Amino acid sequence: MPPTSLPTAGFDPVTPTPDPARLPTDAAGSTHLLQLGGLPPAAVRRLLERTRRVHTLMGETASLPLSGPAQAPAGLRGLLKGRVVANLFFEDSTRTRVSFSVAARGLGAKVIDLTSVGSSVSKGESVADTAANVAAMGADALVIRHRASGACHLVARTLAALRPGRHFPAGRRCAVINAGDGRHEHPTQGLLDTYTLAEAHGRLDGFDLSGLTVAIVGDVAASRVARSDIAAMTALGARVVCVGPPSLVPASLGALGCALSNDLDAVLPDADAVNVLRIQFERREPPAGATHTPGPAAVVSLGEYARLYALDADRLRTMKPGAIVMHPGPINRGVEITPEAADSPRSVVLRQVAHGVLVRMAVACECLGVSDF
Ligand code: MLT
Repeated sequence: MPPTSLPTAGFDPVTPTPDPARLPTDAAGSTHLLQLGGLPPAAVRRLLERTRRVHTLMGETASLPLSGPAQAPAGLRGLLKGRVVANLFFEDSTRTRVSFSVAARGLGAKVIDLTSVGSSVSKGESVADTAANVAAMGADALVIRHRASGACHLVARTLAALRPGRHFPAGRRCAVINAGDGRHEHPTQGLLDTYTLAEAHGRLDGFDLSGLTVAIVGDVAASRVARSDIAAMTALGARVVCVGPPSLVPASLGALGCALSNDLDAVLPDADAVNVLRIQFERREPPAGATHTPGPAAVVSLGEYARLYALDADRLRTMKPGAIVMHPGPINRGVEITPEAADSPRSVVLRQVAHGVLVRMAVACECLGVSDF
């Protein structure tokens, strides 16, 4: 089924703006980050450069208290004061939800956290209606995670269709930020992965990734992270190779501009980074209309999968000096990666997590029109 392409009637998330470094903005002036695929390289680079400025201002600690009046350092403090950011998470999340909250709170925004449990979604309300209601209460940004590919586009188009002065106060803007929609994209994860790659290989000046090879290993077919990584990394010049069995890395993925391989041991010695994905069983649905029949098996057996594709201590030894190990989490230790690899000196997994806060600060500022840093 990859690549996923979505209808864009009403609001096109990749319509070139007069300034190619800017994210698409709808007729009401709301700026959205719905996907990285199709964005001009200048727009990707601008978000990474803003992340770098946040990083410099935050300093090396790059973390904020998770509770209490979290305060960013001078230069960032209060940038979103008076703004309301609503996290609408209709699917489970640990890292992404917490880091969007920490980022927005750190910049002084008020944060509303909504999940399907405990909201009217459990009574049958659609995601578009829920989002429009939260926007009508004055949210300046909706950060949305949903199991359906295209949910964030649907919300952006719904908001764009609301009539100013009738449905919505005239002049009201509301940004939509995709925090992961089905198998489609996870743009802030793509940005933080790209930032981490650039940092590890000394490419923060200009974010030119040419000459670097990134292996994305595992369940690429079901991965929104892979789609966002491929878009951002190839836009900046990296070569991306997706690696896994044909059931997880089908030939159709080549349309995304990456190379494909079924042989991890052949790819690893040339990789400057390996990004390991878990098998996303919950995104593999039974065939349409089937109620009891399981969907096609992702792999023949987990043991066989691990033998051929798990990143373990032996495979780590075949990697180049300086090559890094990434994983977006959640990690299934012993399946796609062993503890020796996940916790090795090559691993930048927790660095990725820390960078997530920086990226989400930069993205929130970009989507809310804050340009003071
Ligand atoms: C995601 O939300 O896609 C995660 O970060 C990766 C995963 O679920 O395996």
